[in-house]
Amino acid sequence: MATGWWLCRRALHPRALLVNRCVQLPLIVHELFFKKLNFGMFVGLPELRNKISLAEQSYSSWQTTVDPKEMKKFQLLAHKWWDEDGQYAALHSMNDIRVPFIRDTILNMKNDHQLGSPLSGMNILDVGCGGGLLTEPLGRLGASVTGIDPLEENIRTAELHTSFDPALAKRIQYRSCALEDIVEEASETFDIVVASEVIEHVADVETFIRCCGKVLKPEGSLFVTTINKSQLSYVFGIVVAESVLGIVPAGTHDWEKFIAPEELERLLESNGFSVKTVKGMLYNPLSGSWTWIGNTVINYALHAVKTNIQEQLDPTEAILETGKEELQPETSIKSAI
Ligand SMILES: C[S@@+](CC[C@H](N)C(=O)[O-])C[C@H]1O[C@@H](n2cnc3c(N)ncnc32)[C@H](O)[C@@H]1O
Repeated sequence: MATGWWLCRRALHPRALLVNRCVQLPLIVHELFFKKLNFGMFVGLPELRNKISLAEQSYSSWQTTVDPKEMKKFQLLAHKWWDEDGQYAALHSMNDIRVPFIRDTILNMKNDHQLGSPLSGMNILDVGCGGGLLTEPLGRLGASVTGIDPLEENIRTAELHTSFDPALAKRIQYRSCALEDIVEEASETFDIVVASEVIEHVADVETFIRCCGKVLKPEGSLFVTTINKSQLSYVFGIVVAESVLGIVPAGTHDWEKFIAPEELERLLESNGFSVKTVKGMLYNPLSGSWTWIGNTVINYALHAVKTNIQEQLDPTEAILETGKEELQPETSIKSAI
């Protein structure tokens, strides 16, 4: 008790408060490694937990991929998307590697392309487009891009920003809706589906993946960037990024919703995809830039191709059937492309 009081007094001393900031990180790391994190992670418990929870879910609880708690978080920042030095700075700079990754992967799969407009002729769906940070550069590469996001405020911000470039606006359309809302009308519509920094926010990753498969044309490409479910991702993706450096607002991420690349690959392969590439990404908070690295321990990007076995997968049909009556499209996805 006396020791506890002494520690409290020392910790609250002004000099100690200053020093605290510097020593905080190793202490936090120690705390997380030895106390907070469940050692079950080493023996694949998260995977087991995921399997159990998926098995327990009935179709009726699979009807939305949207988590209302996530929507509340994003609502607070809906007008901040285009502040390059603000809370979304890391997403702005991620474009430096994710846009070339998408472009070059597609170019390597195509025999021909139009100079200066390498993605022309491609229909892209940017799921969880937010304010359109990735939608716009993809449109500038010549693609027709549909950006969807369940949060209307995000879509308004995205539309406003794109409207400043009328030539680009012709190739981009936005819609406020969840992916499952458009699965039926946009069945096999897109050459490419992009879900960048989104799946760590969805309510049900497997439904989300199945819906991606449904809207993709056969042999279409899915690009995902997300955060691994590792100890280091807890330390750097949540503690350091949110609490210590404030790179993203506190509470942005929930470690439980992160997904290991092996688990994502397993989900994709069992839902009609063939995973082609998984690459590690690293953010340097000092330079504010991203680089590709040889391991996927924190952030990673993935490219998968839809195989022809999609049609055998029927659980999504149940979602579609149940959601039919509620579907009230504002604009038709197919007609606008
Ligand atoms: C971190 S932001 C990424 C935005 C954008 N993809 C980018 O990289 O600039 C995550 C976005 O996913 C959206 N989101 C969350 N849950 C979603 C869901 N179930 N379906 C589609 N989008 C979702 C949020 O509204 C938010 O705009």
